[in-house]
Amino acid sequence: MDARLGPVLCASLLAAAPACAADYLPWRVTDSAIEEPLGGLRGDAARGRELVIARDKGNCLACHHLPIPEQPSHGTIGPPLMGVGARLSAGQLRLRVVDEKQLNPATIMPAFYLHPEALYRPRPDAATTILTAQELEDVVAYLTTLK
Ligand code: HEC
Repeated sequence: MDARLGPVLCASLLAAAPACAADYLPWRVTDSAIEEPLGGLRGDAARGRELVIARDKGNCLACHHLPIPEQPSHGTIGPPLMGVGARLSAGQLRLRVVDEKQLNPATIMPAFYLHPEALYRPRPDAATTILTAQELEDVVAYLTTLK
């Protein structure tokens, strides 16, 4: 690995960019949930709805059916997420989107906020989470509205 790349990349990332190892926010699992919002951030449900559609962000529609009628294609690989906000608490939803493998090591659902050092990437120095902490909270805020 080129030692020059890691610090330079990390330092150049603004708060809006996905976290690399240096700015990764820790989280804690209790009772199959992450109760505390990442970094104490407040999610925006409207933005979360955009992120679950965005193919370069959540791309949740690739695997899940969601109540988003304007999108033509909904996946069937994962369970439909209709009413998921009534079935699961915000903390339970947060753990599932941060890292579903904590609950099911064999899942094919991506961990959207996995520690960059736990990722396999061709260039480990450039590894980041898929979603930023703020985006993660936005997605959780949206999911809690699905009652
Ligand atoms: C590659 C397919 C895939 C993608 C992409 C994906 N998921 Fe999943 N998801 C699954 C599967 C499969 C499950 C079933 C549980 C398991 O495998 O552990 C699941 C389970 C879930 C659950 C738990 C549902 C329940 O009723 O218990 C939630 C919530 C969830 N996903 C949210 C999301 C969100 C939000 C996104 C996008 C940010 C997303 N998923 C992206 C495959 C996917």
